[in-house]
Amino acid sequence: MLKTKIAVLVSGGGTNLQALIDAQKDGVLRSGEIVLVISGVEGAYALTRAENAGIPTAVCSRRDSVSQEAFEASICRELEGACAELIVLAGFMSILSEDFTRKYENRIINIHPSLIPSFCGKGFYGLRVHEAALDYGVKVTGATVHFVNEIPDGGEIILQKAVEVLPGDTPEELQRRVMEQAEWVLLPKAAELVSAKIAAGKGE
Ligand code: GAR
Repeated sequence: MLKTKIAVLVSGGGTNLQALIDAQKDGVLRSGEIVLVISGVEGAYALTRAENAGIPTAVCSRRDSVSQEAFEASICRELEGACAELIVLAGFMSILSEDFTRKYENRIINIHPSLIPSFCGKGFYGLRVHEAALDYGVKVTGATVHFVNEIPDGGEIILQKAVEVLPGDTPEELQRRVMEQAEWVLLPKAAELVSAKIAAGKGE
């Protein structure tokens, strides 16, 4: 079976990218292979993780682009150059337009650090999600992998996992627990599920 070619889009530390790289090594991710890592931020540590794993990298920064169109055109050029068939958003912090998400319908997945539909949508990213969960006082939170469409965090849910909130948690402690117990497990599993489907569709 021909493996699905995966591009991972990142902006920061890249621990979710690392989970995907490790899953590929361990055979958890076996129907897909990471062929490219695109960072929205120059110098992101995720780029070093990719280089250490021998994966080609590119930087496409919204800030350095004259417009959203030019930014997305630069991403598309990289994706097409690598023949990417599945796009995994792993802590990618730039907004993608409806034009972009339509072009890659059912081909973009994202990891979000809460149980959607709680603490998601515009303005909820990174540590802010965990601050909001603690402010609200929920006792259970978690992570969600979903398809990406034009609605922020609004696409079809693929996998979710719950994580306990403990008394006295700081946002950083909660973030770490959600990553360890949910994100790093879910994202490789979801990437495998979707890669297997795409690979099967290729008929090989
Ligand atoms: C992760 O917690 C991811 O779920 C979150 O950013 C972090 C990136 O960490 N993504 C979002 O909030 C998207 N709305 P990483 O760079 O170490 O993978």
